[in-house]
Amino acid sequence: MLLTQDMPIATRAGDLAFRRDILTGLARSPKATPPVWFYDQRGSELFEAITDLPEYYPTRTETALLAHHGADFLAIAGPGRAIVEFGAGSARKTPHLLRAIAPAAYVPIDISGDFLRASSAKLAAAFPGLPVLPVVGDFNGPLLLPPVIDGLPRLGFFPGSTIGNMEPDAGVDLLRAMHRLLGDDAMLLIGMDRIKDRDRLIAAYDDAAGVTAAFNRNLLVRINRELEGDLPVDAFAHRAIWNDELARIEMHLEATQPLHFHVAGHCFHMAAGETIHTESSHKYGARDERLLLRAGGWEPVQEWTDAEGLFALVLARAKPSA
Ligand code: AVI
Repeated sequence: MLLTQDMPIATRAGDLAFRRDILTGLARSPKATPPVWFYDQRGSELFEAITDLPEYYPTRTETALLAHHGADFLAIAGPGRAIVEFGAGSARKTPHLLRAIAPAAYVPIDISGDFLRASSAKLAAAFPGLPVLPVVGDFNGPLLLPPVIDGLPRLGFFPGSTIGNMEPDAGVDLLRAMHRLLGDDAMLLIGMDRIKDRDRLIAAYDDAAGVTAAFNRNLLVRINRELEGDLPVDAFAHRAIWNDELARIEMHLEATQPLHFHVAGHCFHMAAGETIHTESSHKYGARDERLLLRAGGWEPVQEWTDAEGLFALVLARAKPSA
């Protein structure tokens, strides 16, 4: 049962935030833009393609964990919760969780409206009788949950190690905001990517088929289309770098020659070799995961990893005092 709301206000606010974030990010030194703006329709499609790449282990590893441990989730979280998924995208992993814990409602939240509507319709068809209540919005900002789920205990679902795309302090702020949004009786099931071999990490973010490079460059295509930009897309090279000190993969767009371009009427210059830092993807040790969750107001209850220890799923309970 798909229950949608009108979305034009969220969309207009998103346009203004995109303009603000890109102009601010290009004016900074070093240049850096928030990764949330990768996900227009094309960016969301490219991300889906990334999740199927042989080099990109997180999605298939996490999906297998979800498929195998449903009975554990049910035993700990119980049935009848409203599942609130943050950054739902195509929600391809979600059916495993919906089947396992018999929820009372499903609320997918995503910034990409078209993508969200399509995936919500598919899920509603696959789970007749389950209220599916999509919310278009940026989960980094203020959100309102549909009143229909008032009074239901919630299970936040934040898969994919999307938390890793945030600086640690912003990640803590987000976890706290999730706690406030979901309430004191909430639980959170979160995916967190583990620190591992450097070459494996770099390959996952610089695949042989060039899909991640296209995903990274699509941000420039979007800027040109939506912000009257004239960035020379082919003059930027995709770079994926492991920053060991900060335990993160960084994606950059590197100017291969001196560049001069415009965005929304503003002029920008880049020297050859200068980069726009477009994404950080933090990786965690087992203790890092628990520290981050506790700092964000969640007490880890149980965690599951694959045999190689590539990826972890953690189920946590809201700390009443948070
Ligand atoms: C969405 N996020 C968790 C992905 C990641 O692995 O950091 C985004 C991504 N960027 C490049 N490949 C995948």
